[in-house]
Amino acid sequence: MLADKKILLCVTGGIAVYKAVVLVSKLSQAGAQVKVVMSRSAMQFVQPLSFQVMSRNDVYWDTFDEKESSVIAHIDLADWADLILVAPTTANFIGKLANGIADDMPSTILLAATAPVWIAPAMNVHMYEHPAVLRNIDRLYEDGYRFIEPSEGFLACGYVGKGRLEEPERIVELVDAYFNESRDLPLAGKKVVVTAGPTLERIDPVRYISNFSSGKMGYAMAQAAVEMGAETILISGPVSLESPKGVKLICIESAAEMLDAVLDYYQDADYVVKSAAVADYRPMTVHDQKMKKKDGTASIELERTTDILKTLGAQKTTQRLIGFAAETTDALTYGKGKLESKNLDWIIVNDVTDPNGGFGSDSNVVTLVSRDGVEHPFPAMEKKELAKQLLKAIVQEGKRSL
Ligand code: CTP
Repeated sequence: MLADKKILLCVTGGIAVYKAVVLVSKLSQAGAQVKVVMSRSAMQFVQPLSFQVMSRNDVYWDTFDEKESSVIAHIDLADWADLILVAPTTANFIGKLANGIADDMPSTILLAATAPVWIAPAMNVHMYEHPAVLRNIDRLYEDGYRFIEPSEGFLACGYVGKGRLEEPERIVELVDAYFNESRDLPLAGKKVVVTAGPTLERIDPVRYISNFSSGKMGYAMAQAAVEMGAETILISGPVSLESPKGVKLICIESAAEMLDAVLDYYQDADYVVKSAAVADYRPMTVHDQKMKKKDGTASIELERTTDILKTLGAQKTTQRLIGFAAETTDALTYGKGKLESKNLDWIIVNDVTDPNGGFGSDSNVVTLVSRDGVEHPFPAMEKKELAKQLLKAIVQEGKRSL
C-alpha cells in the first residue's frame, strides 16, 4: 500500500523508542522506504543498528557526520521525505520545535523540511498536561504540524493516563489512509470549524443555566470533516464525549467564550458548522458567592448573549456557513427564517421532538436547506453516518455554486 512512499522517521528519547523499531518494520512491510534519524537520548534506549537492520538504510544522528560528500545530510534527508514522522516525540523535542531550536540532527532536519510532519508524542501524563507542553503543542499545531494523539493506558512511569505512544499498527493505518486518500478527499486542504455541545452560563459558583445538547451531532460532524481530509477545529461546550482523532479540540464553557474561540479561527476557515446549542440568555449578574435561599419566589434577570452565527454571517467573506435549527414546531419555516436572518449558506433543520432524533439520541432526522431554497430531507440514521452524508452533500453543492 505504501509502495514508493518515502518516510523519514525521527526518533527522540523515551522508553517508547522500542515501539519505533516495530513501526519501521511495519512501514517497510507496507512497502515504504524508511530512513531513520535518532536523537542522542533515543540512542540510550535502542542502538541505531536495530533501526538500520529494520529499515535497510543508514541511520543518522550526528549533524556533522556527512556520509556523502555530494550532499548535506540534513537538507538531503528533509528533501527526500514524502512524510516525516516524529515517533516517539518527547516533551523536550516538542519544546525545541515550537521555538525553532535546531541543536541536533532531528531538530535541524525539521527546520529544513517542507514535507508534512506528523508528531506522535509519548510522555508521562503530567508532562503531557503541563501548561508549557500544551502551549508548545498549540503553537506547533498553528505552524501546520499534525499530531497523532497519545493513547491512554499504563505508562512506563507507573501512571495510568494519556501519554502512551499510539500503537505502530495504528500509525501505519493513518499513514496509509493519508497517502491513499489525500488525492481524492473532498475536503483536503480545507479548514473546517465545528462548534458542538451546550454552552453553560453561570449563576453563582454552584449553579448554571444550560440545555440538553449532548454534543453528539457536532462531534460526528467534526469526525466526518477530518475523515474527508479537512483540518478540523472543534470548539466544544461541556460534554462527556471523546474527541475524534485528528481534530484540534478547544473546550469552552459560555456563549461568550465560544464567540471568542470561533472568531479566532474564522478568518481562515473555509466552512463553519455551528452545531452547538448556544444559550440565548445568561444571568445579568454572576454571583461570587452561593446564593442563599429566601422565603417566597425568586427570579434571575437574564440578558441576551451574542448570536454567534449572526455575527459570523454579518462578517462573512469567503467562508461557507452552516447552521442548525433546533425546533419543536414548524421546523422548516423557522429554519428557513434563520438561514435568511443569519446570512447562512445552509441550514440543517432538526425537529428535536422527533422520536428518531434530537438531543442525546445516537440517531437524527434532519432536512438540509440551501441558500437557494433546495430542500434535502435525510431519513433517520445514526448521527455519525448522517454527518458524513450531510457534509458530502454540502461540499458537492458548494462546488457547483462556486
Ligand atoms: N446560535 C448562535 N448563537 C446564539 C444562538 C444560536 O450561534 N446565541 C446558532 C446555533 O449554533 C445554531 C443556530 O444559531 O446553528 C440556530 O440556533 P437555534 O437555537 O435553533 O435558534 P436561535 O437562533 O437561538 O433562535 P430561537 O432560540 O428563537 O429558536
